Amino acid sequence: MMERFSASIGFDWMLYEQDIEGSKAHAEMLCRIGVLSANEKEVLVNALEDIKTEIRDGEFAFSSALEDIHMHVEARLIEMTGEVGKKLHTGRSRNDQVSLDMRMFLKRELIEISEGLRTLLMTLIARAEQEQRTIMPGYTHMQRAQVVTFAHYLLAYYYMFKRDLGRIKTVQEGVDVLPLGSGALAGSTIPLDREFVRAKLGFSRVSENSMDSVSDRDFIVEAIFAAAMVMIHLSRLSEDLIIFSTEEFGFVSLPDALCTGSSLMPHKKNPDSLELIRGNTSRVVGDLFSIFTLLKGLPLTYDRDLQEDKEPLFHAIGTVKDAVSIMDLCIKGLTARKERMETAVYESFMPAVEMAEYLTVK
Ligand code: ARG
Repeated sequence: MMERFSASIGFDWMLYEQDIEGSKAHAEMLCRIGVLSANEKEVLVNALEDIKTEIRDGEFAFSSALEDIHMHVEARLIEMTGEVGKKLHTGRSRNDQVSLDMRMFLKRELIEISEGLRTLLMTLIARAEQEQRTIMPGYTHMQRAQVVTFAHYLLAYYYMFKRDLGRIKTVQEGVDVLPLGSGALAGSTIPLDREFVRAKLGFSRVSENSMDSVSDRDFIVEAIFAAAMVMIHLSRLSEDLIIFSTEEFGFVSLPDALCTGSSLMPHKKNPDSLELIRGNTSRVVGDLFSIFTLLKGLPLTYDRDLQEDKEPLFHAIGTVKDAVSIMDLCIKGLTARKERMETAVYESFMPAVEMAEYLTVK
């Protein structure tokens, strides 16, 4: 029961590429400083490559007897190379290793999220260009307030997602730090060449305080926060579009591929995709609560509690990537029902503000 309770392999296997790339850089550095011979380094790097292929091709045997991805890779390495395999972990701890893996993973994922957001921004602009003359009611308190265009409305969300993109850039700067060399908490007496590893793995800076490095999860909080903000914006847009697509409003018609029918009522077209974006937002906000609560009151330095940082992060990242793509398809595919929007404008007293302003200026 303890093995099962303790294992993180069920989710941290996702870090295998980063774990192996990090280990290859570490092996090369150990060779540079004379801890490994050139031949030993070759053996290790080649075996690590083979392990990566095994995992990618689904030929690797995972077991909860080995706690995490780091132990799995190391155990297999020793199985393949014998005594040499045991030298790889010299000057390294899983505490700096796991932080490295998470940072490398996030670097890649944040680029992907940014790309998705950029696509959505372009889609919103393209849609807004088509809807410059589509007038509709703008709402405050959910009451018809003033006349706007559908383009104006869509670009409001453009600016939200543009801010999100800026936020992600800030997160990327925080992530871009090499923790390796911090060891378990106190660094190492071996003269590790951190600068070499930094350049090899493409980090901008090396961390400066080893005790901070192994316990720091600020970058994960920031990444989840950025993801949660994107979800909040997507959720608000979803709510708007769900309302606008009702028979009562009828302002938009959603793409069929993103809706479902009912098992009982043949006339129904349900906006499931948008409801699920709205629903999943609660779980991503929950991820933010999880990571905050995890860190509160955690003594320095590494504590095993920190293993619990991964599932909230993976969940938040996976969800936001999917949700951004779904929303992009939705905006691309939705039909603006211009006559319905116009009728809503002309049926109301909304132009009263403009008339009052006209008279005031007069
Ligand atoms: N599975 C652990 C985690 O994800 C790896 C680090 C373990 N370190 C340790 N000192 N037990 O956090």
